[in-house]
Amino acid sequence: MMAVDRAEPLWSANAAADASGGRLVGAGGWAANSISIDTRSLQPGALFVALPGETRDGHSFVADAFARGAAAALVAQVPEGLPSSASLLVADDTLAALERMGRTRRAASPARVIGVTGSAGKTSTKEALRIMLSEQGLTHASAASFNNHIGTPLTMARMPADSEFAVIEIGMNHAGEIRALVPVARPHAAIVTTIAAAHLENFGSLEKIADAKAEIFEGLVPGGAAVINADNPYCHRLKSHAQRLDARIVTFGRSEAASVRLLDVRSYGGFSECQIAIDGTLIRYRLASPGAHLALNSAAALAAVWAIGADPVRAAAALSAFKPVSGRGDRQVILGPTGAFTLINESYNANPASMAAAFALLAIQPVGEGGRRIAVLGDMLELGASSPQLHASLSAGIDAEGIDAVFACGAMMRNLWDALDSAKRGHYAADAEELARILPDEVRSGDVVMVKGSNGLKMIRVVDALRRLQRAAS
Ligand SMILES: Nc1ncnc2c1ncn2[C@@H]1O[C@H](COP(=O)(O)OP(=O)(O)OP(=O)(O)O)[C@@H](O)[C@H]1O
Ligand SMILES: [Mg+2]
Repeated sequence: MMAVDRAEPLWSANAAADASGGRLVGAGGWAANSISIDTRSLQPGALFVALPGETRDGHSFVADAFARGAAAALVAQVPEGLPSSASLLVADDTLAALERMGRTRRAASPARVIGVTGSAGKTSTKEALRIMLSEQGLTHASAASFNNHIGTPLTMARMPADSEFAVIEIGMNHAGEIRALVPVARPHAAIVTTIAAAHLENFGSLEKIADAKAEIFEGLVPGGAAVINADNPYCHRLKSHAQRLDARIVTFGRSEAASVRLLDVRSYGGFSECQIAIDGTLIRYRLASPGAHLALNSAAALAAVWAIGADPVRAAAALSAFKPVSGRGDRQVILGPTGAFTLINESYNANPASMAAAFALLAIQPVGEGGRRIAVLGDMLELGASSPQLHASLSAGIDAEGIDAVFACGAMMRNLWDALDSAKRGHYAADAEELARILPDEVRSGDVVMVKGSNGLKMIRVVDALRRLQRAAS
């Protein structure tokens, strides 16, 4: 959260007790200026929320939180060994208490709220909105990719009372999850970036994924806008949900039918020039990160800006400062021992839609003399029974986008490896560790190397190994 001096604390002891339904124990009268669920990132003056974790219970970190300067702790029971003066807020269920704080803050807030969901591009779109709206008013947004049953209430409870705009990422792995989360956010506009095969194993069909994403529209305030991708095959299905819920419908995309229409995108090495038509107004803007998928996200973001009554022209101008989020396309030119090459870090996650977007991004990169476009790929996880086929069919995108060489790892990527044109086979490895050992000797001057896989594959190790070449050379 932005560090801003405020007359009002984020939460006073009494306000937190009233909102959470908890009971104040120990020294009262405290004021918290942030909320933390992890002592490793806790800032002095925070309210520490002890959540029951899968491996460690947050209650075992309460003493540590106070040692790091916590103003107070929200707990379900008083941990042993604390001084009796320790400032505590005691509630039966700390997550439910945090959620009540989020709901209370939202109910009293004058902020115009945008919710963002979708199978890919939530965080990228949320960060674009943060940049766009911050310049038009005090803007609060989800940290990192906090979008689940903890992240969403946490984001709402962290919202400063005087926020003018809020951008909330909302994710899901199963049907019903967004339905449970969105009433805390109550958005004025809800974006579904795209529908694609992510977490497919939990759903069985893309239709069911679309239905689950459409749950976000159930939480819209009356008169709120459903912001829907006009180019997606499930556009019609999403629209029917929005109509059933009496939402206003705003569509974005390249389609002629889109209310916010992306007319032109020209991507260069490090940026895109875009043209968009909103309600008859033509807006030209520069997006400081290339790739058709990010241009589409910017159209989604602009559609939401327009839908909540903020200024899309000013918002579009702010995108000249939009850089990809770490692990989602951030790039670096590395001066290695054999010359300079470009590294594109897409290691944060992967599914068929984001793979296609990343191949297209690689295709538009200029290569140096003798250079190649290289894709370094790890498995796409959670795709269920169709996973082998979805991996094998990546070869079509690799051919279509003119990618020269593939290095792959993971059990599922074997399916791609077998389907690949043999001229494109770089190396198939068991895991990212092995690729991290091999790649530094493979890259040469002029190459563009794009590294991508589901987070569980730890493709960041390959990125780190390639980055170390820079240090070795300098
Ligand atoms: N509109 C889009 N369509 C397809 N792929 C996209 C789109 N936007 C981003 N991507 C790809 O998806 C990857 C993840 O982007 P991002 O982190 O913004 O998504 P997310 O939806 O927040 O993911 P998560 O579900 O992990 O929170 C990026 O690295 C990029 O390859
Ligand atoms: Mg995310």
